[in-house]
Amino acid sequence: SAVSAATAATASVVTVAHRGASADAPENTISAFRLAREQGADMFELDVQETRDHKLVLMHDTTLTRTTDVERVFPGRAPWRVRDLTLAQIRKLDAGSWFAARYKDEPVPTLGETLRAMDGGGLGLLLEIKAPELYPGIEARVAAELRREASWLQPGRLVVQSFGWASMRGFHRIMPRVPIGLLGTPSTTQLPGLARFARQVNPPYGNLTARYVRWVHDHGMEVFAWTVDDVGTMRRLISYGVDGIITNRPGLADALSRAS
Ligand code: G3P
Ligand code: CA
Repeated sequence: SAVSAATAATASVVTVAHRGASADAPENTISAFRLAREQGADMFELDVQETRDHKLVLMHDTTLTRTTDVERVFPGRAPWRVRDLTLAQIRKLDAGSWFAARYKDEPVPTLGETLRAMDGGGLGLLLEIKAPELYPGIEARVAAELRREASWLQPGRLVVQSFGWASMRGFHRIMPRVPIGLLGTPSTTQLPGLARFARQVNPPYGNLTARYVRWVHDHGMEVFAWTVDDVGTMRRLISYGVDGIITNRPGLADALSRAS
């Protein structure tokens, strides 16, 4: 497994906390990542985007409205895109209160501080570059940040993924030793070419069959399925032979892998 070092000895499948333990804490925050560790995840997933001044921050949506108080803090800056505000501006936002009052003033983390905060915790990282078409050059910036926090480059700790397959081809050129994941469901004609640089195919679980999983394995790649929050579906996907389950509820998957 590309992430074998991050896999618990008892687990047959890697449990990935989607945006952190995001059923129980605000997504893409340090609190959510710490909780993922407490809940027994093997890895945590996050979404990286770029500010106006080209700093790397964690945010799922390309706008800041759903998960921060940006409309109150910066009225008149519609549509409140990540790329239109500077890091200093984004750092004024509260990324926790929308989820629950006790997370008030939880900041939007930078990638760098997340890598530092989560180093030594034993969790692997599934790093998504979100909407790379909006951020030309983001691949090199992510690579530079990873070189600064080089313990993440040890084998088995990190996978970089995106829906942007060309972006992932580019990232692979910059950091050929980092395993690459492709979000989506490549077709028969697409997969052989993609298998030259990618290590994982990571589809929405509804697209999966046992046959598709076997076919990806036959191309020497792994399958991580998302976003799976119920035990019945987890069991079914494990029976298909998936290598990883991406979930907002890592505690469920951890309990399942311990029981099996
Ligand atoms: O890791 C898989 C998943 O994160 C992809 O979808 O929209 O949650 O980033 P999304
Ligand atoms: Ca994601």
